[in-house]
Amino acid sequence: MDRMRRLRASQALRNMVRETHLRTDELIYPVFIIEGENICSPVDSMPGICQYSMDRLSEELDRVIEAGIAAILLFGIPEQKDEIGSGAYDDQGIVQTAIRFIKSEEAYKELVVIADVCLCEYTSHGHCGLIKDGIVLNDETLPLLAKTAVSYAKAGADIVAPSDMMDKRVGAIRSALDENGFSHIPIMAYSAKFASAFYGPFREAAHSAPGFGDRKTYQMDPANGREALREVEEDILEGADIIIAKPAMAYMDIIRSISQNYNIPVAAYNVSGEYAMVKAAAANGWIDEKKIVLELLTGLKRAGANMIITYHALDVAHWLERV
Ligand code: PBG
Repeated sequence: MDRMRRLRASQALRNMVRETHLRTDELIYPVFIIEGENICSPVDSMPGICQYSMDRLSEELDRVIEAGIAAILLFGIPEQKDEIGSGAYDDQGIVQTAIRFIKSEEAYKELVVIADVCLCEYTSHGHCGLIKDGIVLNDETLPLLAKTAVSYAKAGADIVAPSDMMDKRVGAIRSALDENGFSHIPIMAYSAKFASAFYGPFREAAHSAPGFGDRKTYQMDPANGREALREVEEDILEGADIIIAKPAMAYMDIIRSISQNYNIPVAAYNVSGEYAMVKAAAANGWIDEKKIVLELLTGLKRAGANMIITYHALDVAHWLERV
């Protein structure tokens, strides 16, 4: 007779029949670089996460290397913003400078450097594209995104990750990379990116809250799962190499359906608001942070994620060494 408890009797047995494993080499750690000097500025709503200026970036990178994390996702916070987000595609911009530094240092150059491609940190209005008459323009924004991606590739980025949600940006970026000698650089596309309240803390970290309105005319309605698959399909046809689903926890069905419908690696982005909720509850002693985080991330893997972008990455890497 079937007795499900037979294989739960000891830790060794449970380990043998475990279906899903979390691994450090599948974790991607987001890093915020801010223009200026001698800055290590904690983000209030994201305990443990700081913005670093270039001269102190090594402190964070040393922790990344020490934890055995193989990949970072870079976000830049420029001193000056303008209407057209010029800081994003300036070859001397903050992200470009950071990438060149990482790739020139023996200790860091093997890190997989993923550069988030978007204008919102660089525009005075905080939107992800150019604005005319209060409208976020699509096609006019594409050349700027493409220019940004090429500029990051030139600086030495290993992967570019467009997060703007303009239509056709993956194709525009793919062509521009190819034309500039970067046909070998993969695109990790934020394809299923929802207009989510879970990005709140990130916008404090990246100084990128929209100055008017919201992002609902370009990011997806959280209610739409079928539409997410159309976004993914378009991005694959335009040349995406890896698909990001974002946020993660409230969108595990999306992760599952992408991984079942397409033969392409899927990254789950465990976003800032998800991190903040766990940290707040843990700080109050209401939950066991380590157990909760490992359970959450294991759930994302079980849903079908091949890799996870998470602010918990450094902690998780240390915990995994000891479990
Ligand atoms: C930029 C971008 C955002 C995030 C990643 N890239 C913010 C947004 O779309 O408003 C959110 C990441 C997070 O919340 O951790 N477009």
